[in-house]
Amino acid sequence: MSKACILIVDDEKSIRSSLKMILEYDGYQVMEAPDGPSAIETARRKHPDLVLLDIKMRGMDGLQVLESLHGSYPSLPVIILSGHGSISTAVQATKLGAYDFLEKPPNRERILITVKNALQLERLAARQRTEATGDPSEIIGNSKPVREVLKLIAKIAPSNLSVLIRGESGTGKELAARAIHRQSARASGPFVQVNCAAIPEDLIENELFGHEKGSYTGAGERRMGKFELAHQGTLFLDEIGDMTLKTQAKVLRALQEGEFQRVGGSAVLYADVRIIAATNQDLEEMIGEGSFREDLYFRINVVPLRMPSLREHIEDLPDLVSHFADNFTRSNGMSPVTFTEDALDLMKNQAWKGNVRDLKNFVERHIILSPGPEITASDIAADLKNTLQVQSGDIRNMLAETDSLQEFKETAEKQFLIRKLEENNWNIKVTAEAIGTPRSNLYKRMQYYGISRDGTV
Ligand SMILES: Nc1ncnc2c1ncn2[C@@H]1O[C@H](COP(=O)(O)OP(=O)(O)OP(=O)(O)O)[C@@H](O)[C@H]1O
Ligand SMILES: [Mg+2]
Repeated sequence: MSKACILIVDDEKSIRSSLKMILEYDGYQVMEAPDGPSAIETARRKHPDLVLLDIKMRGMDGLQVLESLHGSYPSLPVIILSGHGSISTAVQATKLGAYDFLEKPPNRERILITVKNALQLERLAARQRTEATGDPSEIIGNSKPVREVLKLIAKIAPSNLSVLIRGESGTGKELAARAIHRQSARASGPFVQVNCAAIPEDLIENELFGHEKGSYTGAGERRMGKFELAHQGTLFLDEIGDMTLKTQAKVLRALQEGEFQRVGGSAVLYADVRIIAATNQDLEEMIGEGSFREDLYFRINVVPLRMPSLREHIEDLPDLVSHFADNFTRSNGMSPVTFTEDALDLMKNQAWKGNVRDLKNFVERHIILSPGPEITASDIAADLKNTLQVQSGDIRNMLAETDSLQEFKETAEKQFLIRKLEENNWNIKVTAEAIGTPRSNLYKRMQYYGISRDGTV
């Protein structure tokens, strides 16, 4: 099992380094952030299991960061780091939901015990949450296409065969990959995920195979790659169509021989991994163009699994809606909310281009907006039209509505990106090429603006 991942937030580098040393020595994975905004960004992108947070920082102080983290991730444990002068603030922070506070300079024993207890408590709470709400990673649906997917998963999970999962965005490809892992003999081993579209080209080899100390400028300590981390477990290669030919060659070798080398290293390493890959790109066409290796394709496409679009199993919509509504209200301590028959009928007639993810966001958004226990067709009708309007907002409106240059630039950029993504059928690679930016940058901007296929939040 992989060890918990801890985010250290402190504007003093020396404090970060000494904490990092203590924690890494104990086997934790550590990430650092030098200020509030980057802490929030890191939490959003990397999902740490626990945060160590300095209270006094320039710009955004710890309390503000705590509030923001607590708002977005109510169950993320935060431990406050306080200097001599700030104990009373630290106490205040525990009242605001921090798990505990530690005085600086941090004492090794105390840190390790506090961190361990906080993580244990969180795990316990998480278990109780899943028991109360049912498994949130369960694949819901009783339609023929979904039943067929479930049947195939059950059949292939116990084997070691590579699986290639296809399907539009938001159809549950990741969910399926996790289900295969859970039902396999490797279930107690790690499930390690690599999003090939989110990692810059020059870093992907490091990510997959790790690197030796000082192997290139900026390479610090030796780092294990995802192949090693997935040993005796499952490696999920998401967006596999976004790998360069060079990386594809290395991945192929790792799959064929089970062996690989760290970047900058000469030792040959072995890992026993089961590969599940996913993509919504047309790999066959890419093979024709010469941008995807045919031998790699055959290697991973041993079992093809296609996730149906929501349009193909729209009859499951009522079940999905009540599943998402129940999970959402229960985990937020709200009283139950139901969607009326006419609301469901209206929803069944939507195109749901972002598929189940789109539907889930929609359900949660309306539960937040709704004042009562019932959501009717008239409650949601306006929103179904609204999404289209937001996307066609023009420059003249923006001129009238925005005041600062920054706001104007950001609004314009966001609209531009949505338009271009639409034009290119939400294919990140193609869109990035069309607008002349690296796809890692496009991906980052999309995350920054909260842009996803189902519209913007
Ligand atoms: N059949 C389903 N039952 C329950 N939840 C589902 C189902 N399909 C998708 N979801 C939910 O929809 C969301 C999107 O699913 P997931 O991330 O697996 O999609 P994806 O195909 O990997 O999307 P992308 O191509 O954008 O990466 C998740 O919250 C997932 O739990
Ligand atoms: Mg996915």
